[in-house]
Amino acid sequence: MKITVIGAGHVGATAAYRIAEKQLAKHVVLLDILEGIPQGKALDMFEAGPVCLFDTKIRGTNDYRDTADSDIVVITAGLARKPGMSREDLLMKNAGIVRDVTDQVMRHSNNPIIIMVSNPLDIMTHVGHVRSKLPSSRVIGMAGVLDTARFRTFIADELDVSVQDVNAFVLGGHGDSMVPVVKYTNVAGIPITELMSAETIASLVDRTRKGGAEIVNYLKEGSAYYAPAASAVEMIDAIVNDRKRILPCSALLDGQYGIDKVYIGVPVKLGKNGIESILEIDLDKKELEGLRKSASIVKENCDNLASLLS
Ligand code: APR
Repeated sequence: MKITVIGAGHVGATAAYRIAEKQLAKHVVLLDILEGIPQGKALDMFEAGPVCLFDTKIRGTNDYRDTADSDIVVITAGLARKPGMSREDLLMKNAGIVRDVTDQVMRHSNNPIIIMVSNPLDIMTHVGHVRSKLPSSRVIGMAGVLDTARFRTFIADELDVSVQDVNAFVLGGHGDSMVPVVKYTNVAGIPITELMSAETIASLVDRTRKGGAEIVNYLKEGSAYYAPAASAVEMIDAIVNDRKRILPCSALLDGQYGIDKVYIGVPVKLGKNGIESILEIDLDKKELEGLRKSASIVKENCDNLASLLS
């Protein structure tokens, strides 16, 4: 198993290290455009092997030839929003980066599974799919696992129970339009509606929706990376070990939920072939409307990228 991580920044480096620690691959390649950064970080991680007891070979590089024949490629490359830059400017910049990165990746690997992490997530996953020409089952966006992890953390903290017993689903787009599905949220099978007031649930839903911004406000520069990296690695673990996990991921819908040809967060079965099926769960009217609204925002943005991607 060879796993390449593109972008040796906060999320990419943390993900690469976690992949090695969990011994999910024999080879990990960390690539960035910045010279020296991926090499230095990768060597530092590699030298942790004897202490942390992993034999994974981690290499840093600026050369896509070193990514040849990767089984899984995680894309975290991108720019953060700078003062004076509009959301649209950022979208165009990151779409250009993800387009070029995907083209380079595909020059050296035939049939990888791409896990997209760069934001805006659902749109970047679309870019990766269009440019790679891979089947949609092999181009998957990481968002729902992170959003769900945040929701589960807040629920467990509120009830003072183990996170292990908290099951939840957050669907829809990664951002303001995410759709936490309260109906399928439970603690050891007990619906949270029996454990918390409607007001408390609403406040946790709201905190989940603003989870990324809460961290950005603390950090001032940069955004969250421990939980995002851990979430991407949970998806990798499901694929590498063919676990058939049911996880919320950004997947290309083909009529499910009345949505066609749009990447959006839904429950999928993840195994060695990537997305093995998309689950269509019963949503109430408001949730379904939320999901469709999310999808229409993603679609509009993707349509605006048509010339950049052709
Ligand atoms: N090719 C390769 N690497 C690139 C490219 C490119 N064309 N353009 C930028 N990068 C690299 C940067 O040099 C940087 O090292 O991507 C890395 C991004 O790292 P950070 O700025 O630390 O950002 P990070 O916090 O890791 O987030 C990366 O993941 O969660 C999302 O919103 C987040 O889109 C962002 C991405």
